[in-house]
Amino acid sequence: MRYVYLVSIVGVIGLIALLGPRGSVTTRPPIEVFPDMDRMPKYHPQAKSAFFADGRTDRLPVEGTIARGTYYEDEYFATGKNGEAFGKGFPIDVDNDAMARGEDRYNIYCSVCHGAAGDGDSMTKKYGMLTVANLVDQRLVDYTDGQLYDVVKNGKGLMLGYADRLSVEDRWNVVLYVRALQRAANGTKDDLTPAKREELGL
Ligand code: HEC
Repeated sequence: MRYVYLVSIVGVIGLIALLGPRGSVTTRPPIEVFPDMDRMPKYHPQAKSAFFADGRTDRLPVEGTIARGTYYEDEYFATGKNGEAFGKGFPIDVDNDAMARGEDRYNIYCSVCHGAAGDGDSMTKKYGMLTVANLVDQRLVDYTDGQLYDVVKNGKGLMLGYADRLSVEDRWNVVLYVRALQRAANGTKDDLTPAKREELGL
């Protein structure tokens, strides 16, 4: 009987020694009985590859192919251009849904720099970014819709493009909302209905 106790005690001590106290911090690698998925063959971005002949882990797109979901029959819809020239008009349904979506995306992605009203009076300006464009300026009112779309897609000067954050449709929705901001900032009493003018005494 005594041996049973002895073996049990030695066994328990052995087990504690093997598994160690939980919750302590150590820099030593843990004992791995089953390595599971701790180490798996995978490539890190920009790492060297022993598999591909050119040694790159990041693969270039196969020549002559287009990634799924990035081809649009309508060239103007995708680029804002007809051939080389920027086009005019909206290749999306211009309705309240498009405007609401544009406002939503504008407030997320653009207002930090261009201001909620589009006039460039924004948070980043307060912190010293003084070159941010005033979107309701006549210079940009005179831009064609395609030209504005191109700035949103590809960026311009100091501004980065939003192609990776806004879908093609959303870029147009944002341009639509920028047009609304421009109308709002440059409105005159002639934009009001006669009834509204009378109500305001103009
Ligand atoms: C991080 C700040 C920042 C954000 C966010 C930003 N912009 Fe800009 N944007 C700028 C700056 C700075 C310029 C001036 C670029 C220059 O002329 O170098 C500019 C210029 C522009 C212009 C004028 C380009 C021209 O040809 O003069 C348009 C139009 C514009 N932005 C639209 C947008 C829209 C729409 C969004 C949202 C999708 C957006 N921007 C988001 C900083 C920003």
